[in-house]
Amino acid sequence: MYEKSKELFERAQKSIPGGVNSPVRAFKSVGGTPLFMQKAKGAYMYDADGNQYIDYIASWGPMILGHAHEPIVKAIQEKALDSTSFGAPTQLEIEMAELILSMVPNVDMIRMVSSGTEACMSAIRLARGYTGRNKIIKFEGHYHGHADSFLVKAGSGVATFNIQTVPGVTAGVANDTLTAAYNDLDAVKKLAAEHKGDIAAIIVEPVAGNMGCILPQPGFHEGLRQLCDDEGIVFIFDEVMTGFRLAAGGAQERLGIKADLVTYGKVIGGGMPVGAFGGKKEIMQHIAPLGNVYQAGTLSGNPIAMIAGYTLLTELKNNPSIYKELEEKTIYLRDGLNEVLKAWGQPYIINQLGSMISIHFSDHAVVDFATAASANNELFKKYFHAMLKRGVYLPPSAFESWFLNNALTYADLDKTIAATKESLQELV
Ligand SMILES: Cc1ncc(COP(=O)(O)O)c(C=O)c1O
Repeated sequence: MYEKSKELFERAQKSIPGGVNSPVRAFKSVGGTPLFMQKAKGAYMYDADGNQYIDYIASWGPMILGHAHEPIVKAIQEKALDSTSFGAPTQLEIEMAELILSMVPNVDMIRMVSSGTEACMSAIRLARGYTGRNKIIKFEGHYHGHADSFLVKAGSGVATFNIQTVPGVTAGVANDTLTAAYNDLDAVKKLAAEHKGDIAAIIVEPVAGNMGCILPQPGFHEGLRQLCDDEGIVFIFDEVMTGFRLAAGGAQERLGIKADLVTYGKVIGGGMPVGAFGGKKEIMQHIAPLGNVYQAGTLSGNPIAMIAGYTLLTELKNNPSIYKELEEKTIYLRDGLNEVLKAWGQPYIINQLGSMISIHFSDHAVVDFATAASANNELFKKYFHAMLKRGVYLPPSAFESWFLNNALTYADLDKTIAATKESLQELV
């Protein structure tokens, strides 16, 4: 069934570390051979052996309307004829910035970069430059990309591979990153008091997605917002996952919270390498060339990446019903999964908001990294493979949210629920 993928994986390991260009793709935490993809259309991916899968990772978020979405493919093809990069400004970059500002609340200015990592890294530097302070607070199990400052108690692959300290991150950098448990406002207040006047920023995944999907508890973000106001701390919403996914205006809109700086990635690029950070003018004007906080990029605002993102965001802006449809589908899936999991009789938790959802095999609420990590993640591995065998491609780790795309049909969701029912019988 996976012969060609196995062959490719053997070959890949000779020239690429671990055979992959991003660690979670290696299937290391769930075991088995990573599947090499050949093509994808709508909600389906096809591997090198020609197997078809219903896709629940959507390239880890970006493909919110499904793969090879025709308007995006066409726009890229047309744009490429006019050159793929200039290294000089273009009108399209202004249109993209104006479009983003028209969709997201509370952002006066935006700077485009090429990945979510770059966006978060730059936002932190800006917060430090703006406040003249060194330390940041992040949350255990949250992932903000692979920049040094964030690889302290991080989520996603860092949690999946159980990497406690990342070699190559200097003690000095690590010491400037303070961590607290997600949803533990008192712990954050304590850190802020202990390091009074030293904290430049609090960065948070507004709805966590890198330890499975975990929702903010009522009052948590409101408390952080207040603390930041009281202490002159820059409040950063990392909306790389949630931006343009939970709502056109992202988690700021969905949760009704105003951040000082916001980072974007994934959906913003329509499947091309794009990230962005933006926020209040008062802070953003400290970025070079307006200010001295240096940040740059040879391919930032790249025309092919911009047209892909612009085309997707335009469709999302013009069709707000997409978010309603996506959420209805996700709730339908959640309810169907609930039914078969309940009948199965073993403990489980489903967390869901908008089109983000995940299952933890746990007998306690999953509200932070400790509760996510203490779930039965061995069971998740078996579940993952049982689903894969039945043509459903879930994230290959319990420490990842599933992402629904709007090309999924109710028949696909029914198949997924039926596959879960069958798979559960193999899990005991
Ligand atoms: C919340 C969050 N922030 C930042 C990043 C880093 O983005 P990228 O992988 O584009 O560098 C990710 C990636 O998964 C993410 O989920």
